Amino acid sequence: MNDESWSSRKVVIVGAGAVGSIFAYALAQSGLADEIALRDANHELAMGQVLDLVHGQAFFPSVQIREARAADYADASLIVITAGVKQRPGESRLALLQRNVKIIHDIMDEIVLEKSQAVVLIVSNPVDILTYVAHQRSGWPRGRVIGSGTVLDSARFRHLLSQHCGVDVHNIHAYILGEHGDSEFAAWSMTNMAGMPIEQFCRTCLKCDDWQAARSKIAEAVKHSAYHIIDYKGATWFAVGLALTRIAAAILRNQHGVLTVSSVLEGEYGLSGVSLGIPCILSQKGVEKVLQVTLPPDEQEALAKSAAVLQEIIGQLESAGAS
Ligand SMILES: NC(=O)c1ccc[n+]([C@@H]2O[C@H](COP(=O)([O-])OP(=O)(O)OC[C@H]3O[C@@H](n4cnc5c(N)ncnc54)[C@H](O)[C@@H]3O)[C@@H](O)[C@H]2O)c1
Repeated sequence: MNDESWSSRKVVIVGAGAVGSIFAYALAQSGLADEIALRDANHELAMGQVLDLVHGQAFFPSVQIREARAADYADASLIVITAGVKQRPGESRLALLQRNVKIIHDIMDEIVLEKSQAVVLIVSNPVDILTYVAHQRSGWPRGRVIGSGTVLDSARFRHLLSQHCGVDVHNIHAYILGEHGDSEFAAWSMTNMAGMPIEQFCRTCLKCDDWQAARSKIAEAVKHSAYHIIDYKGATWFAVGLALTRIAAAILRNQHGVLTVSSVLEGEYGLSGVSLGIPCILSQKGVEKVLQVTLPPDEQEALAKSAAVLQEIIGQLESAGAS
């Protein structure tokens, strides 16, 4: 990519449904992008979202917002994929997954055909599987095809810790690692309050009678957060839109921020052939470095278990000839 195209900070969002449109809205407000282009298989939906957003232009920092065509992939800095389909009545998980894999394959083929130099960020679920599949399809370096991973889960974790411990969320460093899903886990060994390890904080805080039980409850609550929201309103979109804006900032502004995006592993943590949420340094190149944290044995085991869950699904896809 030359400097001129990079300076345009163009973001293409594929999938203009709830998550894609809220991300577009948050991104427009952030002032991070010069151009936001939305694409959806439902052209009328994309047009409706674009019109609704451009009417807010008087209140946003300067940004162009319009419908995208495949040609827009060519000079985009970042392509965010939120496209996906929902389960049909009676449809198996594998059949649903195969339909979503086909969508990701088709979109990646178009992106590659346009010789795009963008970073591709997968958001569609199951995000870790689709990130792996998208990376395989692209043939690109792994750092340029990444997933939103456990960035949202880690934000939920920090929120719950903040509520429980009475410490501002901005003073809490805490990560959820592994699958964005049921096998994810809280990396307590990496959790700290303003630099104070959580172990030390809990031993001196005296706020809860049984801090070990409180920790298990918090980690479980993170896992179930999405289910509660889905029960209440059908889907989640606000917090994920903000999490994506944070990821976009690290990439568009070359910030080298550390975020638990989903990245294909190449031997780190003794794992490969899988993509999952791990702390990574993010820059304009995408994942610049997968951080190799020394995890205690229980957390290393939890990570290996989470990887095994994902690898089993990848294996099923491969057997069905759909990976
Ligand atoms: N990773 C995360 O943290 C996270 C969080 C929330 C939601 N999600 C996922 O994001 C995805 C989108 O969720 P949503 O609530 O916006 O769903 P949605 O149904 O509102 O939007 C999906 C959109 O994708 C479009 N689409 C389908 N096939 C397409 C294609 N081939 N090309 C372009 N567009 C296509 C549909 O027309 C639809 O508008 C889902 O997979 C959801 O599970 C991920």
